[in-house]
Amino acid sequence: MNHSATSRAPGRVELLGNHTDYNEGVVLSAAINYAVTARGETLPERRARVNSEFSSEAVDVALDGLDLLAGESAWANYSLGVAVMLREENYQLGGFSVQLESNLPAGAGLSSSAALEVATARLLMKLYSLKIDPLHLAKICRRAENDFVGVKCGLLDQVSSIFGKKGQAVYLDCRSEEIDNIPLPPDTALLVFHCGVAHRLVGGEYNERREQCFAAAAALGVPALRDVTGEQLEAARGRLDPLIYRRAAHIVGENERVFAGIEALRRGDGKAFGELMFISHESSRTNFENSTPELDALVEIARDEPGVYGSRLTGGGFGGATISLVERSRVEEVARGIDAKYTARTGNRGRAYPCESADGAE
Ligand code: GLA
Repeated sequence: MNHSATSRAPGRVELLGNHTDYNEGVVLSAAINYAVTARGETLPERRARVNSEFSSEAVDVALDGLDLLAGESAWANYSLGVAVMLREENYQLGGFSVQLESNLPAGAGLSSSAALEVATARLLMKLYSLKIDPLHLAKICRRAENDFVGVKCGLLDQVSSIFGKKGQAVYLDCRSEEIDNIPLPPDTALLVFHCGVAHRLVGGEYNERREQCFAAAAALGVPALRDVTGEQLEAARGRLDPLIYRRAAHIVGENERVFAGIEALRRGDGKAFGELMFISHESSRTNFENSTPELDALVEIARDEPGVYGSRLTGGGFGGATISLVERSRVEEVARGIDAKYTARTGNRGRAYPCESADGAE
């Protein structure tokens, strides 16, 4: 008899610590109440069948020797990649079918890809009674993205989707792999605003930034940018290529802002945390150059909106969404205000997603 099961994995917002994860740095995020749901069953034959409500292309492939799919079916690679990595690690996996549903906007920088991976992984764990430690599971999902899909992302998205807690931020130290939850100020809500222009991680910019960060670390003679303080970077500035300096300044600054952000959260100081978010965005705009005119407009508009503590781009950048920390009682009003002004200023139709921080994958 076929077994059936259901799983659910949330998207995430990155709150502070932009592009720090693959630099062995620190990052603060939160899982959100938008998620991917996976329903599926075991199959007697060794096949992987993946269907989703967001594509009319059904995928039905042999489980042994899975290859990367191109074109219309490429979305299924995130699920198939998980099966590939589980098998590489010798987990006993048989055939399966999975039906994916999502209310998580794709291409918004909210980690819909990690949510697909984690939801699939959790489903396969249930279907085949696999016991996997949560951090190891996050790494398997990241490998699906790094080695199968080919995006060299860090561990942030998968960890956030797994370790999220309602009312709390997720802290991740990518070097020591310490993970913690820190309460968000209770009177605040999260407002995601999608600029209406998709973000494309399966594109060159992300990997290019990564290479530039590694080049910065090499020029500074350290294993990773995590090892550099602001003072050390300033002292070395004269001998660094200006572009490499700016990339490093972003990462070093973001790591410092994460530690300052934790202090602010521990004091329940939404205003101080929000100020760090604005500074983070400015650094993305000028140092890391992973913002866009649309995201800049959204952050500028948010800054003038009563009830907004802070705002910045969230995730990889190059399009996608901003995240704002907002007084809870004003979140709908703020969303309407930003919406109207953004369209008036840029002519684009964005979309607001008032969010709650949420528990990680079931
Ligand atoms: C994407 C990647 C993450 C992280 C962020 C930027 O979301 O998937 O690993 O690098 O960008 O912080």
